[in-house]
This record gives sequence, structure tokens and C-alpha cells, in this order.
Amino acid sequence: MPTRNTPAPGPKLVIANWKMHGTHAGNARLIDALLPGLSAMAGVQVAICPPMPYLAQLAGLLGRTGICLGAQNISERAEGAFTGEVSGQMLADMGCGYALVGHSERRSLYGETDAQVAMKFEAALRAGLTPVLCLGETIHQRRAGNTNAVIGSQLKAVLEQVGMAQLAKGVIAYEPVWAIGTGETASPTQAQAVHAHIRQLLAAQDPAAAARMRLLYGGSVKADNAAQLFAQQDIDGGLIGGASLDADAFAAICRAAISAEPPVGAGLPAKNSTR
Ligand code: PGA
Repeated sequence: MPTRNTPAPGPKLVIANWKMHGTHAGNARLIDALLPGLSAMAGVQVAICPPMPYLAQLAGLLGRTGICLGAQNISERAEGAFTGEVSGQMLADMGCGYALVGHSERRSLYGETDAQVAMKFEAALRAGLTPVLCLGETIHQRRAGNTNAVIGSQLKAVLEQVGMAQLAKGVIAYEPVWAIGTGETASPTQAQAVHAHIRQLLAAQDPAAAARMRLLYGGSVKADNAAQLFAQQDIDGGLIGGASLDADAFAAICRAAISAEPPVGAGLPAKNSTR
């Protein structure tokens, strides 16, 4: 199967994270329902991360639609006696272009540490995949006023492992843990504030690369709140869980990403000073 490469940054990026949902028949139905709407959409880059066993099915279903394939996880190891693990090379071989790393469910339920997440990020790059680094604070950390510190240390672990030039080849997804699967979304202002902070941290390393990096927001993004989130200066797309399992809702979110784009010919968006 061909390795699908990810395109250069430009339009907004919307990634579906199906988590542990799906069946062979159900996946086919969902893609069938999605394709007519999505294939007509220019101006947004879409990727779908199904459960691992369905990567081959999705690679076939997505074919030449322009929709990328991604994995929800990746091993930090290249090869060997690591039962149950899936390497970056295998994911690339299956046609993946993206791999999520450090999703909060992996961190909290499976004990992934910052150091391990950093190794996974590096493993994804080594395999030619675009890593999507998930960062986010818990509600307790937010209430204690530690949001920026938590995000900063999660980011620092990866920066120290790979350096800014390599980090800039990835995508960052800000996903407040308290907003994931809870129906409680960060307000556009809350999300923008953290995105701006992340971009500033990146800009301290390399302003030009920081301006180019895609920062996605994830956490209860729905058809009715996507447009407002995507309209924020430093939000370059979304990582969508629950709503990506509903064809109409996901298509509406992708449309919102297109309409949030500045009109063609308008030049660079008037982003804040960090861009
Ligand atoms: P949610 O999940 O959209 O269901 O909140 C987002 C995610 O976990 O990536």
C-alpha cells in the first residue's frame, strides 16, 4: 500500500479520532455517508484516524479521495519483541500520513509519560509520518492556575528530545482534558489564549517556524461551535472525537473550517504578533 504523505501547511486541518469505535460494516457506512460531502470540499485538509485493525480497510476506502489516513497511537520502538505494539514503519506501510502522540487518554489511562511521548514523536518522524502532539491540562491544573505551566512542560519534553527544527515538522493539538468527551468545550477565548501561549513558546525557538506550525484545538468540537473556534487567530483546525462518528456533524465541522479561511487573495491572516 502506498505511503500517503501529508501536504504542506496551508488550509485548516481537521482530524477525526474515531477512538475505539467501529466495525467493518459500520466504517464502510460512515465513509459512504461522508464522501459525497467531503470530496467536494477544497480548502480544508481532512484526516481520519480509525482503530488500528481498520487501517487497511480505511486506506482502501479513502483511496484517492485526498482524505489522509492517520493512526491513534504509535510505538516508540522501531521493531522487535514488543507484543501488541505497532511501529511507525508499519503505519507508513499501511498508508498513514499522521500519527497521534500523547493523547490524554494514552497519558492518563495507559501511563504514557512525557518522555515516552517525546520518543513516539521522534519515532513518527523517523517513519516519515506527521506526528500530532496532543497537549492539555486537567480541570484541577486549570483551576490551580497551572495551565500554561503544564502545557509548557509537555511541550518542553518533546523540544528537548527532537529540537525545534524537527518539532516544526509536526502538528500540535491543544486538548484540554476537561473538555474531551465531556460536552464541555473550551470557549473560543480560552482556547485562543492557550494556542497563543503555545505559539509564543514555539516562537521563542524559531519565530518563522512557529508561525507556520498548525495548532489544532480538540475537546467536544461540534457542528455548532466549530466555526467560532476555527475563527480564532491561532486555531488552525481541530481534532474531533465524538462528532467525527456522525457523518453530518463531521462534514459540517469541515465546512466550518473552510469558511473560517481568509478569502483568497486576502494575503496572510492578521494573526497576532507571534505569527
Ligand atoms: P471529543 O474528543 O471531540 O469527543 O471531545 C476529542 C479527542 O479526544 O481527540
